[in-house]
Amino acid sequence: TRSYSITLIPGDGIGPEIISVAKDVLVLAGYLEGIKYDFREMLMGGAALDATGLPLPHETLSAAKQSHAVLLGAVGGYKWDRNDKHLKPETGLLQIRKELGVFANLRPATVYSPLVDASTLKREVAEGVDIMLIRELTGGIYFGEPRGFGTNDNGEEIGFNTEIYATHEIDRIAHFAFKVAQKRRRKLCSVDKANVLEASMLWRKRFLAIAQEYPDVELSHMYVDNASMQLIRDPKQFDTMVTNNIFGDILSDEASMVTGSIGMLPSASLGASGPGLFEPIHGSAPDIAGQVGVFYFRFFSFASTDMLNNSTITHIQDKANPFATVLSAAMLLRYGLGEEKAAERIENAVMDTLNRGFRTGDIYSAGTKLVGCKQLGEEILKSVESNVPAG
Ligand code: NAD
Ligand code: IPM
Ligand code: MN
Repeated sequence: TRSYSITLIPGDGIGPEIISVAKDVLVLAGYLEGIKYDFREMLMGGAALDATGLPLPHETLSAAKQSHAVLLGAVGGYKWDRNDKHLKPETGLLQIRKELGVFANLRPATVYSPLVDASTLKREVAEGVDIMLIRELTGGIYFGEPRGFGTNDNGEEIGFNTEIYATHEIDRIAHFAFKVAQKRRRKLCSVDKANVLEASMLWRKRFLAIAQEYPDVELSHMYVDNASMQLIRDPKQFDTMVTNNIFGDILSDEASMVTGSIGMLPSASLGASGPGLFEPIHGSAPDIAGQVGVFYFRFFSFASTDMLNNSTITHIQDKANPFATVLSAAMLLRYGLGEEKAAERIENAVMDTLNRGFRTGDIYSAGTKLVGCKQLGEEILKSVESNVPAG
């Protein structure tokens, strides 16, 4: 058997619910393919702030760096929204991405045929969409200096950030994107704002230069405003897309809705070496957070004080869609561990579960079976076990 160490970071909000499902799926698919794991569950985000005072404790970062791959739920919540920047849950997430050097973020937007009716777009527009959106993840306005707060000449308070890309940052994401496109339908659309922003002008110039090395890939350029419109008008025109950090953040949420729900989109964040980071593209969804079981612990006070303090969950909802996280676990197996068979097992199980009609509320449509996060997880496990090939 092959053995891997995995860092699990449940995080906040729906994070623990979806990670619990994804972990079970990872274990079963792994077991059936001769894989064993050594899991370490670590704190990040609001949970880490409450327990340690920091959004990314040193132990979490070092565990992540020492493992073969990191699986993350989501971070953030109302409780910490007004914290100073360095004490925000989201800052922990940006730090771990930067520290792991995972500059390339793959965000596939695939319309699963059983979910066509869950899309808000017409069937003929959504059907068959298969986009690989590549987001630059460790540069741009998220990290650019100078940044901060200050006062302008009128004594007025200002907040400012810098959109900045160095040549080496553009070149490495460009090579990455061309190589991904080569393995797909060999069409690469680079999305920028080169009509206005200098950082985008350099971006476009470097993509044009690097394209010379990939004559088999058809490169096109699109301004981000048009791209956001084209994604809704005719998403099937896209194969592989590549863009900067902030445009990728926004366009991936938009692309997710073509597939039916943001609860369907996984991601893989990869660097030149070292462990990858795998997480759904959605957030901690505090509006629907709350898992089965935890409520009773709180209500009857059976749980230890520690458990109560660490829990931000106040009531049962069990509404979260775990598919994005389960599909992130599949990406972890494929891109993080090179375990293609186990990855396919999970992807086939997702398709099989959808074919058997099980849905959370966000992807529900008439004639399907509405279930909670926990039960959907159990149905996915049954599908993993029966290993029905994708149809
Ligand atoms: P969100 O993605 O958490 O939620 C947006 C909407 O989509 C909500 O209505 C939510 O209920 C729904 N949704 C999201 N995931 C879902 C799922 N799996 N199943 C069903 N419905 C789902 O975005 P937001 O509300 O803007 O942000 C909430 C918090 O999450 C904020 O603190 C934000 O900073 C954080 N956030 C974290 C990450 C991350 O950890 N990677 C990503 C995005 C947002
Ligand atoms: C995402 C999130 C994060 C981002 C936030 C929470 C920092 O929106 O992963 O898409 O903007 O990258
Ligand atoms: Mn986002």
